[in-house]
Order: sequence, then structure tokens, then C-alpha cells
Amino acid sequence: VASADTVTLRMDQINPEEVIMPEIYGQFAEHLGACIYGGLWVGPESPIPNTQGYRNDVLQALRDLKVPVMRWPGGCFADEYHWRDGIGPAKDRPTQVNNNWGGTIEDNSFGTNEFFNLCELLGCEPYLSGNVGSGSVEELAQWVEYITAEDGPMARLRKENGREKPWKLKYLGVGNESWGCGGNFTPEYYSDVYRRYQTYCREFSGNKLYKIASGASDYDYNWTDIVMKKAHSHMHGISLHYYTVTGWNGSKGSATVFTPEDYYWTLGKCLEIEPVIEKHAAIMDKYDEKKRIGLLVDEWGTWWDVEPGTNPGHLYQQNTMRDAMVAALSLNVFQRHTDRVKMTNIAQVANVLQSMVLTRGDKMVLTPTYYVFKMYIPHQGATPIPLDVTTVRKDVRDGRSVDMLQATASRKDGKITVSLSNVDLDKEMEVTIALGNESKAKNISGNILTAGSIDDYNDFDKPEKVTLKPFSGAKAAKGSIKVKLPAKSIVTLTFEI
Ligand code: AHR
Repeated sequence: VASADTVTLRMDQINPEEVIMPEIYGQFAEHLGACIYGGLWVGPESPIPNTQGYRNDVLQALRDLKVPVMRWPGGCFADEYHWRDGIGPAKDRPTQVNNNWGGTIEDNSFGTNEFFNLCELLGCEPYLSGNVGSGSVEELAQWVEYITAEDGPMARLRKENGREKPWKLKYLGVGNESWGCGGNFTPEYYSDVYRRYQTYCREFSGNKLYKIASGASDYDYNWTDIVMKKAHSHMHGISLHYYTVTGWNGSKGSATVFTPEDYYWTLGKCLEIEPVIEKHAAIMDKYDEKKRIGLLVDEWGTWWDVEPGTNPGHLYQQNTMRDAMVAALSLNVFQRHTDRVKMTNIAQVANVLQSMVLTRGDKMVLTPTYYVFKMYIPHQGATPIPLDVTTVRKDVRDGRSVDMLQATASRKDGKITVSLSNVDLDKEMEVTIALGNESKAKNISGNILTAGSIDDYNDFDKPEKVTLKPFSGAKAAKGSIKVKLPAKSIVTLTFEI
């Protein structure tokens, strides 16, 4: 048993003004592989049980997750998407080639109405990613009008398509990866284009837009610097993409076959998002010292080789307990940076990269990553509690190091929630949660996610190999809680003091 693993709640350092934006638990749905078609949407005529075309099992799973925001329609797809192709009777909609993702024929049966209705069914905010790369200013301006205006030509078109009332649209992305698949712009040129596009995205009928500039990928600090310098006064947010990936050329490694060294490397790479966020945030501080502008990590997660035998352009990957650890550690980082990080969107919600759910025909499995999002629900909208963590540090490949105990904590409605991860593959830990005073915690409840082996995953023939279970390994003492944390486990505890 490892000793001296301690988490001290710094109640004296709480800033009651700070909030873990629920949007940090956001999702991303792109027209890519089976994310939309087969994942979220099967169409109203499908034999797969559905509600107006949305599959019931996935709808319920996402409702249970309290999804706060969903980004759509891409990704790279967004900069080749023409919204007019996705309105009106489905049978009359034109098809297109999905050039980014396997050359699949897109039939546009899932379009604006289908996306906004889905957000209404889930009770989440829509986040629209606008086409800048191959679209026009007029096209994007009219899309916003179609969605949000009470009256006028675009509102009439919407009404003809069966939607009388406008929808609310807050989050509007102006382009995606504009340095790459979104147009190969230079940051200087993109900044000017951004300024122009956002000018014509009007606020109709009391709708308020939160305009998001297309930001950098991981270590591209120059992009953030130039776009902030030239366009900061015209934006509410700027994005950042960071994938836990071994590299962009050649094999990215298997999702399910890996060594302990690969596992620890993965955690080191995942945790590197923290200094990356800090460096982008420091650049933002130069132009926005009052922190008005949000940093939105609107794509993140693990990216492995596709499952053998599946279309390489469809990015279908399995999801093990290792991915669950990446989810927990990344969410912990986001919760430490609530002053800047106002939204994040894991890539992607279904059947693509680090998904919440996998589907095959009428079957669905919940992934280990899904359960982490479920365990972390109490943190949504809560006040972060600063922590001191004492634990063992392990050196991992590529000159990085990883703390064996990882933690995050928050307070909401008089309840404290602490999430702990013992990332050690072999050692149980006895963790002391120091409460910072002499009180004894009451009404402790908890749940645990762990697995027999770190490469365990849920599949259609074994859907419940890795699932959430009640946790009873926490005991209250005067001024502390003692927790027996099994190796490779994630635990969330809620209690009152
Ligand atoms: O999430 C998959 C792809 O990754 C997105 O389409 C793109 O924005 C990023 O490169």
C-alpha cells in the first residue's frame, strides 16, 4: 500500500465568483463515419427504436449525461457544409461527397432542423460551426437569420420547413481549424476574414451570440497571438484543439493493445494539455487582461488507429479504461482553469474517436469515458475548490512525469464533490482527504470506475465489462476522510461538512 497520498481541500482559497461552466462537459457531433448516421440519427422510418428519427437508446444515454452543449456539423466537415442542402423535405435534399472523411456520400437528411430539434430534446445549447473555408459571408449570415429571426425572408423559409418559432443560438464558431482543413489560412489573413464574417452575423429577435474565432492546435502559440492581437475586440471566445495522440504521421497505436509504458506515456501526453492551456492563456492575457474572452477547447480526447477492418476515414475506435483515465485527468485540468476555459467538447459523441457511446445496428454500448462524464456531473456549475495534492511522481517516456494520484473538487448547494484517480496500474492507495478543519464529513456517497485490466473495454457481446459501481471505501474521521483507492480506479465522493 502506497502511503502519504493526501488531498487537502483549500477552503480558504475558494473564489465564490468562480464557476465550472457546465459547458466544460460539452460534446461534439460531426458528419463523420457513424457519428450522426447510425449513432445519433437513424431516421423516422428505421426499425431501430427512435423518436422522430433519433435513436432512443442514445437519446436516453445522453439525457442521463446532462449534456450541456453540442458542437455541430464539424470539424473539417463544417467548412464544406452548405446549410441550404440540409433543409426542406429530406427526399429533395442534394447529396454531397464527404471529402474529409472517407469520401462517403452524405445525403443531408440530418440538417439544421434535425440538429436544433435534437438539442431541444436533450435540453442542451447548440454550438454551430460556420463554413468560412468554402462558404460565403452571405451564406453564414443567412444561416444565423434562418435559425434566429422572427420575421423576414429567412424566417419565412424556416416556417415553410415546419418550424414556426426561431431557435436560440448562442455559440457560433467562425470556421474550424482555419490553419488547416478549414482553409489553410495564415493567422494574419484569418483574423481579417474573421472580423468580416462576424460583422454580418446579426443578433435577431433578442438572440445573443457568443462569437468564437477558430483557434490554434496544441503548440501553435503564434496563431493565438496574431488572432488575439488583430481580432480580440470582435470575439467572445477563441478555440484550441488538443488531442492525446502519438503523432500525425503513421500509426497512432492501437486503442486496445498497449503496454504499461504506453499507458503511462498516454497520461503524460494528456496532462500536457495543462501547460499548453496556460501558455495560450498567458498570450490571451496580453490582449485581454480582464479575461473577458473564453478559451474553448472545442476538440480534445484520444486518437488511436481505427479498429481493424473499419474504414480508415471513419475514425471508429474502441475505448478502454485507459481512455477513461484520459477523460478524468483532462476534466481535472479544465476545472483548474475556469478563469479561461469556458467550454470544451470531447471528440466525439458517438462512434468516432473517444466516444460516449458505440452503436452497431440496434445495439449500443456505453464506453468507460461515458461513465467518467456521468461521475463528474455534480461538478457542472459548481465552484471549484483549490487543492494541494501530495503523492508519488513517476517519470514516463518523452521526458514527462505523472503524479500517481490525481484529483479535482468542487462545492455546490452545500455539498462537496471530490473526484480522485489512482492512475497506478498496480498499487492500491490509502488517500487522506484533509478537510482543512476539525469537522467530520456527513452523508458520504460515492461511485467507482475500475477494471480488471487497464485495456478492458465494453463491446457488443460484453457491454458491461467496465461499469460504474457504488463505492464504500471512504470512512469519515475528525478533519479528514480516509479512502482506499484501488489501483487504476476513478472515484467520486459527495459529502457535507
Ligand atoms: O475530430 C476529428 C477532426 O479532427 C475534426 O474534423 C478536425 O477539426 C480535427 O482535425
